[in-house]
Amino acid sequence: MTETVYEMSSPGRIGFRFPEPDVPRSDLPAGLTRANLPLPELSELDVVRHFITLSKKNYSVDGGYYPLGSCTMKYNPKINEETARLPGFAFTHPLQPIETTQGSLALMYDLQKNLCEIAGFAGVSLQPAAGAHGELVGVLIIRSYHKSRGDTKRTKILIPDSAHGTNPASSAMSGFEVVPVCTDAKGNVDLDTLRSVCDDTVAGLMLTNPNTLGLFEQNVIDVIKIVHEAGGLIYGDGANMNALLGICRPGDLGIDVMHFNLHKTFSTPHGGGGPGCGPVGVAKNLVEFLPGPIVDITEEGDDETPPLYGWRMPKNSIGRVKAFHGHFGMMVRAATYISMHGPDGLRDIAEMAVLNANYLLAKLRNTYHVPFDRICMHEFVMEGKWADAPDVIALDISKRLMDYNYHPPTNYFPLIVHDALMIEPTETESQQTLDAFADALVKIADEAHTNPELLKTAPHHTPVGRLDEVKAARELVLCCWTPPENP
Ligand SMILES: Cc1ncc(COP(=O)(O)O)c(C=O)c1O
Repeated sequence: MTETVYEMSSPGRIGFRFPEPDVPRSDLPAGLTRANLPLPELSELDVVRHFITLSKKNYSVDGGYYPLGSCTMKYNPKINEETARLPGFAFTHPLQPIETTQGSLALMYDLQKNLCEIAGFAGVSLQPAAGAHGELVGVLIIRSYHKSRGDTKRTKILIPDSAHGTNPASSAMSGFEVVPVCTDAKGNVDLDTLRSVCDDTVAGLMLTNPNTLGLFEQNVIDVIKIVHEAGGLIYGDGANMNALLGICRPGDLGIDVMHFNLHKTFSTPHGGGGPGCGPVGVAKNLVEFLPGPIVDITEEGDDETPPLYGWRMPKNSIGRVKAFHGHFGMMVRAATYISMHGPDGLRDIAEMAVLNANYLLAKLRNTYHVPFDRICMHEFVMEGKWADAPDVIALDISKRLMDYNYHPPTNYFPLIVHDALMIEPTETESQQTLDAFADALVKIADEAHTNPELLKTAPHHTPVGRLDEVKAARELVLCCWTPPENP
């Protein structure tokens, strides 16, 4: 265990010395000072070492391979960080007069436009702070749309049983009844079930494409048609856009509203709960329902003068969903990433992501069972379970992978695959990395059969061993140090 800063503390040691004041001293107002403030006493070097040591215990994309399915943990180019730190962006205050923030507004306007172009939508709001937040916004837009037409019977949202848990959560939070739709033998939405639940009480369906099995939804056109014919709208969960960039536009397929995960597809860093950015794109008939304000051109420019950008509140807006204008730093990073790649580069990303996933799948499908085994998109799901190694479960395989210095894949999701291991290689990994990872998984499969105990007791080489994950989440203890009573 690393010592806490309090345990490292040594009386009288200091990290910073204030210069002698060149103004007369005066006492602080009474009540603002405390006689006894038990802060640790350390040198600057002690503090630096402490935090560097702690940071080395973190696992990161910059430190190692991170095939966490559905999360698109791709490499974040460092130029994104440079642009996000440019003083003109980093030190802009959202309450500044708009004449002084035209550069930032232009970037947001262009990003809105680019996202519309990439996914085939008529309007985008950049406000939502994450994918799940974008989902909530999208479902609220669907609700407002039906309400604005006096169509108040629509109380249900249909959700395929492979969907991410945030889909039913967003629908339920928006006041809808969630109706699950099962998956067919090929891993697509089951059309017969869908037809049987589609009627005039359906407000919409939330569709993830590629779905969370990593498979392109082969029935997508029929699914959209059936729901539209019943008067419902289609919500697209855009978390998996990395597989579609430059190849297929959800808006062209007929999706009405969709969130983007900038922090997945467009390489802004994520993890540990944020910050993210989950813009929502909509078809033409929903533009006036977007959360606002959104950036618009308030005065056209000409050859000599740039346009003037300002804020516009859509007419039937569901309102503001985030303080100020969202996570602007993430927008700068995503805008940089899109500009650096251009249209052809974005298509390359999707092609390489799909190629890498199929390469890895081909290397593993003879060792691990792949329940819906067909050409995959950017990720695939296999089972971490063998009949002839009954004690080993997916969790054990993931824990053992940590001993090989890999971040585990996503476990136990989607729920329709028992002992699911969901692997998303991403386009930024080399063939050598994929080969080494596949070798590790094949070795672990062998260990599962010859020495299962090795897996059951893994990880063996990490700063902490196997945690009780349920307890760790429910009874989070972040500090095991208690201050002495009389310091
Ligand atoms: C398919 C899918 N939908 C939605 C989300 C939610 O996105 P966020 O984590 O940005 O809230 C995720 C996140 O993992 C996801 O994988």
